[in-house]
Amino acid sequence: MLAFIVAGCQTHTQKEINLIPQPTELIVKDGTFTLDANTRIVYNKKELAEAAGYLQKAVKKQTGHSLALDETATTGNNIFMTINPDLGSKDKYTLAIDGNEIRLAGSNPRAVVQGIQTIRQFLPPIDNGTMRVLLPAVSITDEPAWEWRGMMMDVARHFFDKEEVKRFLDMMAIYKFNKFHWHLTDDQGWRVEIKKYPLLTEQGGWRTFNKHDRTCMALAKEEDNPDYELPQKRLRNENDTIEYGGFYTQEDIREIIAYAAERGIDVIPEIDMPGHFSSAIQVYPELSCFNRTSWGELFSAPICPGKDHTISFCKDIFTEIFELFPYEYVHMGADEVDMDNWIKCPHCQARIRKEKLKNEKELHSWFVREMKGFFEENGKKLIGWDEIIDGGLPEGAVVMWWRTWSKDAVHTATAKGSEVILTPNSHNYFDYKQDYSTLRKLYEFDPVPAGLTAEQKTFVKGVQANCWAEYIPSYQRLEYLIMPRMFALSEVAWRGENREDWDNFYQRMIPHFSRLDSMEVNYRPLDLPDLHTVSAFIGSTQVVWNHPLPEVSIHYTTDGTMPTRESKRYEEPFTLSETTDFILRFYRPNGTASGIEKTTYRKEEYQAGSNLSFTEKGLKCVWHEGIFSKCNEIESVPAIETYHVEHILIPEGVGGKRGLVYTGFIKVDKDDIYTFILGSDDGSMLYINDDRVVDNDGAHGPVTLSGQKALSAGYHEIKLYYFDRNNGGFIDLELQDSEGNNIELSGERLWSPDSSK
Ligand code: ACM
Ligand code: ZN
Repeated sequence: MLAFIVAGCQTHTQKEINLIPQPTELIVKDGTFTLDANTRIVYNKKELAEAAGYLQKAVKKQTGHSLALDETATTGNNIFMTINPDLGSKDKYTLAIDGNEIRLAGSNPRAVVQGIQTIRQFLPPIDNGTMRVLLPAVSITDEPAWEWRGMMMDVARHFFDKEEVKRFLDMMAIYKFNKFHWHLTDDQGWRVEIKKYPLLTEQGGWRTFNKHDRTCMALAKEEDNPDYELPQKRLRNENDTIEYGGFYTQEDIREIIAYAAERGIDVIPEIDMPGHFSSAIQVYPELSCFNRTSWGELFSAPICPGKDHTISFCKDIFTEIFELFPYEYVHMGADEVDMDNWIKCPHCQARIRKEKLKNEKELHSWFVREMKGFFEENGKKLIGWDEIIDGGLPEGAVVMWWRTWSKDAVHTATAKGSEVILTPNSHNYFDYKQDYSTLRKLYEFDPVPAGLTAEQKTFVKGVQANCWAEYIPSYQRLEYLIMPRMFALSEVAWRGENREDWDNFYQRMIPHFSRLDSMEVNYRPLDLPDLHTVSAFIGSTQVVWNHPLPEVSIHYTTDGTMPTRESKRYEEPFTLSETTDFILRFYRPNGTASGIEKTTYRKEEYQAGSNLSFTEKGLKCVWHEGIFSKCNEIESVPAIETYHVEHILIPEGVGGKRGLVYTGFIKVDKDDIYTFILGSDDGSMLYINDDRVVDNDGAHGPVTLSGQKALSAGYHEIKLYYFDRNNGGFIDLELQDSEGNNIELSGERLWSPDSSK
């Protein structure tokens, strides 16, 4: 627990103050302020009444004290909140705490709420019975680097109810996020009541189990993980059929908007169109080109922008959305559109001729422009995913950049004077699987693409994380994916380029896990350092698992069964002399379980290399075109091109739907245990001398895994499989010796299989 709530501790050092995000200017002073039942919350302007009420509720929850509100006091041991217009910049606040009083000022109520979050981080996370709560004396001047600090929740693929949304908003608030992007509709469900079209929720809000649901249910069993179960409360029985679903009434929406506003958060609704719309097409089939739902290769068939009826329908929906949501920005999606129907549809082709468009991409752009005009008539700004650039970016539309691989998107948009929000999927997709490097990569990544002019940078509004819920059936699973990633993004969003280094952040972050424990957050415990998927050893080895969170306990099995709290507990390093498969599970201090980690400790001899020698450097790389889910599917499709590569990279000319198979030999200089670090998006699999060393298989976002192999000096056969389903990915292989030295995989290291002697 933090030192400042230990009675008797009278001063605080810089080290004991662990705020996230770190304020831009923090001066630690001598002394402490004592908050007790007599402290008052004083505000002198009516417009601060809501913020004062919010602080009052927060203090009650976190300390048990019901502080009186006061509009007149000028002195006393109180918390004084004021508006100071001189502070100018939007969310800038100052906070001065000394032995006598707390003074919090912001240029407007929203800025004051940011300061309240800092005060809240000085309080216990929940009431722990302390009568006199001590806050450190500090002087803080703080303002965000970015105006837009967002978190997106997808309630379409799986539904989260009002209480869960509020919990999400609470988490956003304390870490100073201010934009809640609410992905309310998609192929798998329609979640917002539209009075004019009641079937959207009455029927479109419900479905029989889909393939995502079935995968989740299977994972719940396979990994013995209840977070993957579909909550009973989401199921209903309709004429003997079990349906999954839920939606928000307009009343619910208003309640959430008010709850968010109190916490300084704007709610940005997204109604995704013209694609990702089949939950609506299912109940209003005339919206589509051929009056039915259907799927293309990757995405659902969109609505028909050729029909005037469709356009009016879309505008009707937004008319109600505009009335509900008071904020200027509204998201219209516009991502991932399968345009095949548009090519064949007479209505679409008539629209293309009438509007003198060149092709279907321009038809997409026309649709966005048409809707944008309607948004503007209603005083709203249209946000779209970066696909809205592809057929010509309509002037004034706001671009939400997600396709990291669409490298020019931010340049193009900002050069045209369009505002941009950065959500690169390489780092900011919180539904993606995590590995030991995820958090640090997120923290250290600069989401602003290089090479923007100063003027272009002024159009970058901020950053956001997206959390797509196809495989997130429960709120527990959602928390597992967003925490602790939100810590890192909080600092990226608030501090921008001026954030502290990783070690500073890491130290500050550790105490926040006890805050999460108190709030019973289902966070993902940090990774064990140096845990490889395969650890090779010769003779015997010491197994050392020091968890970075000392209160987390590790239980494990070696017989393939899923670990429980009754399984063996790791107490101290132990010696291993046989190959052993471990399954580990971490238990938080409150006894709740994490997901599982699998690792093998493999007893090996230094494996002899090949007798061959080689004349040509580099590897052979064969491209098989297709959409794969597993590496072992790649070679079942005929090869379409063979390349020679000097490094492990994606050869120029290889298309987006790719399976690549690299073969050849790798030369090492000494007998040693080597660590292969394999990162890819999507899947990859590495074999050395026919032994599987790293299994990074499956369709997934960026994941880096490592595995070891004991090798003698010489040439060893390498075979590496990699696939990418949709053009965004990468492949990266690194090699280290047992001392952790990096060995460059190029030059004399890689040899072509066709050049042996
Ligand atoms: C997206 O991930 N389709 C925006
Ligand atoms: Zn059409």
